Amino acid sequence: MFTSRTNWPLDPNRFTRALEEHRRSGRQLLDLTASNPTACGFDYPREEILTALADPRALDYHPESKGLLEARQAVAKYYDGRAGFSGSVARVNPEHVLLASGTSEAYSHIFRLLCEPGDEILVPAPSYPLFEFLADLADIRLVPYPLLYDHGWQIDFVSLRAALTPRSRAVMVVHPNNPTGSFVKAQEAAELAGICAPREMAIVADEVFLDYGSMPEPARTFALHDAALTFTLSGLSKISLLPQMKLAWTVVSGPAPLVQTAVERLEIIADTYLSPGTPVQLALPKFLALRHALQAQVQNRISANLSVLDAALRQASLLTRLDREGGWYATLRVPVTGTDETLAVSLLERCSVLVHPGHFFNFSKDGFLVLSLITPEREFEEGVKRLRKFFDH
Ligand SMILES: Cc1ncc(COP(=O)(O)O)c(C=O)c1O
Repeated sequence: MFTSRTNWPLDPNRFTRALEEHRRSGRQLLDLTASNPTACGFDYPREEILTALADPRALDYHPESKGLLEARQAVAKYYDGRAGFSGSVARVNPEHVLLASGTSEAYSHIFRLLCEPGDEILVPAPSYPLFEFLADLADIRLVPYPLLYDHGWQIDFVSLRAALTPRSRAVMVVHPNNPTGSFVKAQEAAELAGICAPREMAIVADEVFLDYGSMPEPARTFALHDAALTFTLSGLSKISLLPQMKLAWTVVSGPAPLVQTAVERLEIIADTYLSPGTPVQLALPKFLALRHALQAQVQNRISANLSVLDAALRQASLLTRLDREGGWYATLRVPVTGTDETLAVSLLERCSVLVHPGHFFNFSKDGFLVLSLITPEREFEEGVKRLRKFFDH
């Protein structure tokens, strides 16, 4: 009765079972994977958020397929003054912005635009795991290309080129990547365009963590990239710490005729659903304006947690942290005494500390654990202390 595309293994894995058991036991859990910003103790301007949602115009319905113009203008403004990777585009055109109810929806629309069933999208590994389900639902195949770690992360272009087939339709980048925290470098963006443009492939750039860089120079955006057809995705969930508002967007850039066709077709897909609600679209300019104060809190939290982590690691003989350039996560290199899953389960059972095993993010080998740096500080400090003891004994 049911499709093969939804025939996912539904049995909980060992890690999930251990977590459920721990929760049932009622013991306190130190959750170092916390990444829901609304549950991490940040100080939200509650009144301003609620007032922004109470615009009287929200009582009327005037749907626009790409999203309300004033919301798209606010998105375009978000990119003002940022550096792009290539070309002469200085500003994002609001007509090339499409709103969606989340980046997942935006991804689905792009996959439907670009791919016939069975077509392939190249995705970085390690990276964010949700893509697997999106791909199944869109009847496409994800083909991983490795990111290599050698004093920082870089794209393995030899492997990426070897992974290309006549069915490759796009290369995806997460900029900065989750969980490695690495940004795509300017020469890498140029090389990607050199691969994609002649093969009529697109670049799909996930920039939800763009504002969380820790380098001195501002991060470049793909939204101003015109050397190949490029879809840049972002949204309120990370930028303004408002995942519950369910508002994200796609910016289309690239050679003008391709952009025009892509926007026309995406507009029809968007019009078929008209997903984002009016109140949140009207509130978008305000929510984007609030981002600076919210992001400052996140940056402070990340710096504080990183200092605690690094201080603990200086006393640990067996643990190191991989270099990162941004994002919300830290990756630890740990001894390979078993699989990452076994390690994460032991940490949970013996120390009540929850971390992500590396395989959750598609690390190519064991020996990696991922921690969320937006975890509330006291919990993070205690969790890291226990983690260090766990490995030192
Ligand atoms: C790389 C990446 N993209 C997208 C998302 C989800 O964004 P949204 O809430 O807009 O769907 C996440 C969430 O963690 C993420 O890590």
